[in-house]
Amino acid sequence: MSVSYYIETYGCQMNVADSELIEGVLKEQGLILSHDINTADVIMVNTCAVRDHAEAKVHTRLGQFHKIKRQRPDVLIGVLGCMAQHLKNDLLENKPYVDIVLGPDSYRRLPEILRRKQEKKHIVDTKLSKYEVYDNLFPSRKEGINAWVSIMRGCDKFCTFCIVPFTRGRERSRRIESIVHEVTKAVADGFVEVTLLGQNVNSFKTGDKQFPDLLDSVAQVPGLQRIRYTSPHPQDVDSELLDVMAKHKNICNSIHLPLQAGSDRILKRMNRTYTKKHFMALADQIRNNLPGVGISTDIIVGFPGETEAEFQETLDVMHHVKFDSAFTFKYSSRPHTKAAEYTDHISEDVKQNRLERMITLQKEHTLFRNQEVVGSVLSVMVEKESKRSTDQWAGRTDSNKWVLFDKVNASVKEIVSVKINRAHGVSLHGSLVNKGVNDEVDKNI
Ligand code: SAH
Ligand code: SF4
Ligand code: F3S
Repeated sequence: MSVSYYIETYGCQMNVADSELIEGVLKEQGLILSHDINTADVIMVNTCAVRDHAEAKVHTRLGQFHKIKRQRPDVLIGVLGCMAQHLKNDLLENKPYVDIVLGPDSYRRLPEILRRKQEKKHIVDTKLSKYEVYDNLFPSRKEGINAWVSIMRGCDKFCTFCIVPFTRGRERSRRIESIVHEVTKAVADGFVEVTLLGQNVNSFKTGDKQFPDLLDSVAQVPGLQRIRYTSPHPQDVDSELLDVMAKHKNICNSIHLPLQAGSDRILKRMNRTYTKKHFMALADQIRNNLPGVGISTDIIVGFPGETEAEFQETLDVMHHVKFDSAFTFKYSSRPHTKAAEYTDHISEDVKQNRLERMITLQKEHTLFRNQEVVGSVLSVMVEKESKRSTDQWAGRTDSNKWVLFDKVNASVKEIVSVKINRAHGVSLHGSLVNKGVNDEVDKNI
């Protein structure tokens, strides 16, 4: 009988893409995906280490897996991904029920490891590679709108708060032809949108080709309606990138521009390589070059040593840019990182207070940006049924805003023109105008 496996995924989209890759590898070897943790022969968790909270969730989950293993001693438990690295010692010492520990560059070994499953010893492989990009493997994707396509792996930026360079290793890029081939296949499989993924997408480099060249090639894949990418680093956003975004209708008019902090002293301490002034000028340049663009961001509050005045500088940048949306985080000290060694950590209360003030401000800005588009007609990709009403569709604009509208004369995966009637919370409400892409309207709001 064939072996069945169950997999749970935490963390960023890179992990989601990696889990699809793992599923692709296992499917090819005849293993069967199971959605029932209680009957699967192998239980795996693809983990994230970016903040303490992310790790805590996995520890809780592992406790539950342990109970299953007590009832079914033959089940194999695997811990994959970003936590594997430093969980390794903890596992060997404290969690003997975990059979397999694999880091993000070791997934090719999974079938071989599962074949050897009768050997009752632990298998640990957390070696990071300078070369592994899983170029010739195909992810097994679920039916859907968007296909995640990993274009590069690792990160060489070493922001002082961040564990990713330690969990994912050095930066390396896939070949353009291989990426284009994968995108073409995704379109043939029915996907209408791709999101190009990397910890630093715009550090992408193969030979003399860089990220804007890749975007230009992907945009020409016939039938591909939408392209998104995440995450770029502000340092490497240049006019070539903005030009190629403006040139192709199918490259979505949105950009994720992680700010992290607004004070120059903190930015320097974070090793972010740009200043407050540079970031604000860049955001202005983006809004000028790409009318109607949506700008989202990531911000950390309470980085070691951050004073109230320095926190206010982050709010200054928010006031200036008025981000369309933001992911906001309390600083979490991470092993191996430089910032973990700083001695001036901020108290939990102060972090919580700053986070709450920041969220309040961001809500105002999201509403401000959403109100700006009220009255205009935008191109919306119909993605799914609205959670609130079975009579309504939920779709996204080019600029990455959710729009809800009545389900008349439109179906999933179609791009339709929607008149925006009102902004409420983080969503927009509209009504269908007519079918068909209406980019002129979209880009000129
Ligand atoms: N490579 C991406 C982000 C990876 S992690 C980039 O550079 O944009 C996603 C976000 O988590 C980061 O942008 C940062 O805001 C946040 N983050 C990373 N490390 C963190 C830490 N130690 N504490 C709190 N937030 C953190
Ligand atoms: Fe982490 Fe900075 Fe690399 Fe992003 S760019 S993954 S925040 S080290
Ligand atoms: Fe987490 Fe690893 Fe992604 S640490 S954010 S899963 S790269």
